[in-house]
Amino acid sequence: MKRIRIAVQKSGRLHDDSLKLLKDAGISIDNGREQLKATSGNFPLEVFYLRNGDIPQYLRDGVVDAAIIGENVLVEKGEDIKTAERLGFSKCRVSLAVPKSARYNGVEGLEGARIATSYPNTVRNYLSKKGVTADLHIINGSVEIAPNIGLADAICDIVSSGSTLFKNNLKEVEVMLKSEAVLAVSPKISSEVDEILKKLQFRIQAVLRARN
Ligand code: PRP
Ligand code: MG
Repeated sequence: MKRIRIAVQKSGRLHDDSLKLLKDAGISIDNGREQLKATSGNFPLEVFYLRNGDIPQYLRDGVVDAAIIGENVLVEKGEDIKTAERLGFSKCRVSLAVPKSARYNGVEGLEGARIATSYPNTVRNYLSKKGVTADLHIINGSVEIAPNIGLADAICDIVSSGSTLFKNNLKEVEVMLKSEAVLAVSPKISSEVDEILKKLQFRIQAVLRARN
């Protein structure tokens, strides 16, 4: 029997809610995340626990058939990859922020500014639509510290509760993207596995309806 291979975030904010969604859909998964791969005993599905940022490439290559992933990651690294379903959890924004004390009169003022971010493509595209070119510094975590240590004039990162911005004396000035978890599909999915995906989606839709 063919199985659908689905990527789930190995650790991080989406992990628990992703597994909860599968569980609520009646799909039991046997192993914890200690193992990088787990199989369901009651649905033709295998879960691969992967790093967020690697998932778009795995989808593109067809190493996995589908993924539960933040839209923010797809916009940054996988604009070519299709979304089958919006999942309603892990809601966040990808925003630009500047020091609270800074004067802000719109993105035009960021021309030539140093912006620290883990989302270079998202920022570049957003700014280029406004005719602005900035000096991007790519950092993989703790981006919000950058202005305080003199590394940047502004930052672009995920905002959820807003507490990281608050603690670092920053203010959100532009929301570039509103994101949530989505079910993304590999362009290389076979027709046989696509049938399983349809069944999975049917169950997920029932769970989402019951949650609303
Ligand atoms: C994420 C993100 C923001 C923060 C936003 O960082 O990069 O910094 O969460 O959430 P909040 O608005 O609720 O504070 P995370 O803590 O996952 O760590 P990282 O940046 O080191 O990856
Ligand atoms: Mg962070």
